[in-house]
Amino acid sequence: MAEEAILGYLESKDEISDSGQFATERGLDHNEVVNVIKSLHGFRYVVAQDIKREMWMLTDEGNAYTVTGSPEVQLFLAIPPEGIPKEELQKKLDPSVFKIGSAQAAKRKWVEMGKQLVTRKIQHVEDEVKNLLLQIQDGQVINQDEIKALKARKLIVPQTWKGYSVKKGPNYAPKRKKVATDLTRENLQRGDWKELEFKEYNFSAKGLPIESGHLHPLLKVRHQLKGIFRQMGFEEMPTNNYVESSFWNFDALFQPQQHPARDSHDTFFLQVPSTTKQLPEDYVERVKQIHESGGYQSRGYGYDWKREEADKNLLRTHTTAVSSRMLYALAQKPFVPKKYYSIDRVFRNEAVDRTHLAEFHQIEGLVCDRGLALGDLLGVLKEFFSRLGMSKLRFKPAYNPYTEPSMEIFSYHEGLGKWVEIGNSGMFRPEMLLPMGLPEDVRVIAWGLSLERPTMILYGIDNIRDLFGHKVDLGLIKKNSICRLGL
Ligand code: PHE
Repeated sequence: MAEEAILGYLESKDEISDSGQFATERGLDHNEVVNVIKSLHGFRYVVAQDIKREMWMLTDEGNAYTVTGSPEVQLFLAIPPEGIPKEELQKKLDPSVFKIGSAQAAKRKWVEMGKQLVTRKIQHVEDEVKNLLLQIQDGQVINQDEIKALKARKLIVPQTWKGYSVKKGPNYAPKRKKVATDLTRENLQRGDWKELEFKEYNFSAKGLPIESGHLHPLLKVRHQLKGIFRQMGFEEMPTNNYVESSFWNFDALFQPQQHPARDSHDTFFLQVPSTTKQLPEDYVERVKQIHESGGYQSRGYGYDWKREEADKNLLRTHTTAVSSRMLYALAQKPFVPKKYYSIDRVFRNEAVDRTHLAEFHQIEGLVCDRGLALGDLLGVLKEFFSRLGMSKLRFKPAYNPYTEPSMEIFSYHEGLGKWVEIGNSGMFRPEMLLPMGLPEDVRVIAWGLSLERPTMILYGIDNIRDLFGHKVDLGLIKKNSICRLGL
């Protein structure tokens, strides 16, 4: 309807100067006219130009008076020729109509508000307010004084009206041609492809988003880290067991059985199966010895080592449990130097907050060779972290039951403008390595860090619960960019 009207009109006339007027004259809905104009403009059948007008619109109160009449007229009509006591008149009318109506009617000198009676002063009144409101509703222009008065009574408010003026466009035709979007087999068979007009390709249209799986930021960062380890010649350790025995997680690492980390407040112990099935007995004996009375020039801890404690199953609290298994396995064969790494999940019975979850991922690296020294550890750490994009490092003496010396690793964070702790490191103690059976001159340098910390820094996430767990926004996971480290 609207389309025919517009194209038809432009066939003989130069311009539709006002879409609003055009719509009213033809009894068309202006919104529909606007939509058609936009579409015709898009296909360049017409050229449309915006026009704006300040218009007046009726308020709810104004709208109501177009139906009921203005309060002053309602009041006037409620007064019988002989007059009426004020109280009675008040009862006949709505309180707001009475209040506004009596003020307005008195102002216009239509009524006399006497002590006894309210009476008419004239016989007939015109409802000008209602008529003006109806004219405004109809889009007619009325004079400024009247507008002012209605505005003051809050019966109308200003509103910007938007429409178009329309001229023929370069593709103008009295009727829109149907354009073909596809060349079909039928078009070819019938030969009508020669006459068809094809829709132009829109090369800047966006393609459909591809529905596919998405890598979580932790996986992207892990992928990059694996690349760094591999480039540095490290082999991956098998970390496919979340359940570990206390023995490999703690005892083999020379961590005494009364150490606070071995408490159920810090460690998740398993109820079923609660204990491990088997351990290498002769090695267990040597570990017991070193804890109780020492050896290899160590004094040991001097306490009663209990097998039941070592047998207890737990969810591994660090991937160093895997490193201890690997080093033990290495010691069972003629010695060869090794560089190992792992990146996998660990569990700690911790209170959850912005920076802690009860499970997270650890990155761990170790180098095992004859005659390594602390300088080697510093060198490897500098190399490793500079590949992560962190080249300003500082080290702080620390304590781990299984390393001596031990160092916390700090990196200068340009964004935060301060030093942040990024990991922990050290040289595994002889009390850990010698009972395994490694040659005496073999040293192991090692370090560990969380995968979450660098991922949060790289992706600008400040609450760990936005990164991992059930509160994570999947939309964000889909949109995250790929990770590039050290660039
Ligand atoms: N296992 C240590 C931790 O959980 C990290 C570490 C690994 C420290 C290797 C020293 C050597 O924090």
